Amino acid sequence: MKISIIGSGYVGTTVAACFADLGHDVVNIDIDEAIVETINDGDAPIHEEGLPELVADHAGPDGTGRLHATTDYDAVLDTDVTFLCLPTPQNDDGSIDLSIMEAGAKQLGATLADKPDWHTVVVKSTVVPGSIEETITPILEAESGKTAGEEFGIGMNPEFLREGTAVHDFLNPDKVVLGADDERALATMHEVFDPLVSQADAPVVETDTRTAEMIKYANNAFLASKISLINDIGNICKEFGIDAYEVADAIGLDDRIGEQFLRSGVGWGGSCFPKDTHAIISAAEEQDYEPIVLKSAVELNDRQPERLLDLLDGHVDVAGERVAVLGLAFKPGTDDVRNSRAIPVIEGLRERDAEVVAYDPVATANMREHFPDIEYADSAVTALEGTHGAVVVTDWDEFAALDGEFDAMADSVVVDGRRIIDRREGITYEGLTW
Ligand code: UDX
Repeated sequence: MKISIIGSGYVGTTVAACFADLGHDVVNIDIDEAIVETINDGDAPIHEEGLPELVADHAGPDGTGRLHATTDYDAVLDTDVTFLCLPTPQNDDGSIDLSIMEAGAKQLGATLADKPDWHTVVVKSTVVPGSIEETITPILEAESGKTAGEEFGIGMNPEFLREGTAVHDFLNPDKVVLGADDERALATMHEVFDPLVSQADAPVVETDTRTAEMIKYANNAFLASKISLINDIGNICKEFGIDAYEVADAIGLDDRIGEQFLRSGVGWGGSCFPKDTHAIISAAEEQDYEPIVLKSAVELNDRQPERLLDLLDGHVDVAGERVAVLGLAFKPGTDDVRNSRAIPVIEGLRERDAEVVAYDPVATANMREHFPDIEYADSAVTALEGTHGAVVVTDWDEFAALDGEFDAMADSVVVDGRRIIDRREGITYEGLTW
């Protein structure tokens, strides 16, 4: 099929390249000319494992030609279906900010006014329940002068892609959710996903757009809450001198619990869990419902960094002393620091008048935007030199190999927020939940 993808973030670009790899003809539309040029040169505009190869295979000079990019919305006119992959960030009060999506829908609607034949619009971005019915569809109808369900179709296809493994996650889905409010939109979405469903043998969930919107939030809210629950249990274990990881290994054998997302520690960050939990809480409260468990999961997550620093306080007064922060990215494998737990940890150390020296293999440049005036080291051992404490916030594999490097510390107190450092002779070691 001929597919247009609006938006070239880690979702849009990944989806565009993967659709091309499945045999579709894809045009990726973005307002950023530099991104468009990068893709048309056959290069990936973002860092995602496997993406450079796919973009080179399908957009590069020697590629299949099934992928190209443009800034021109009129490219939609030569396609059968458009996926909206635009950012839906968080307002200051936690509610969803649909303004970018509304602007995209407005421009898409205006373009569709000139399209004589049927077209299907699929929302892939994470939008709160009711957004398509109450906001996006009315804009598309107003701008195109057409009626949804009769002259164009509307669908919702949530993504479950993790940063760093987005290509793998797209090509190996545990489910494909097709939300549609008309039969033609559903049929189009099946045609788009049939190659993936057959090659990945993935179950297909057919539902309406409002339910599909909720499935995305429920998925993320459940995963975030599962981590907060194991962190709650982990905090209890710490009080009793029990290793939460030993407990987690045992309960994970219960297939109703499952072994994944039971790594207790300093908590969750990233561009999705924080945004999505706040958005669905805000949306629920607008319906006069208070989601108590979700709010507690967010509150507990917010407290974990302080618990890490309390453990450090128990061993050393860091006021005026150098303290190393090992790990700045919100998780290993990415340079993304959005909502990284390192941010409240550094804030807490500065409140304690500590002199922070930070190290991360790849995320330093991004964290420098948050904290331009702290010291950044170019290696873990340099960060540790002369420090009176170290906190580990990201579970980078390279930290697991640290051993003699701790001897460079003036006072070798190590508080591990991610269970990546082995206890060893010569250091005072504290694990956050073990
Ligand atoms: C998440 C969802 O997994 C994905 O399905 C959704 O589409 C987008 O949001 P992502 O935010 O990229 O993906 O990262 P993920 O690997 O889920 O980790 C999120 C956070 O949870 C990280 O900060 C990670 O360190 C933390 N985490 C994860 C834990 O603290 N413990 C765990 O056991 C797993």
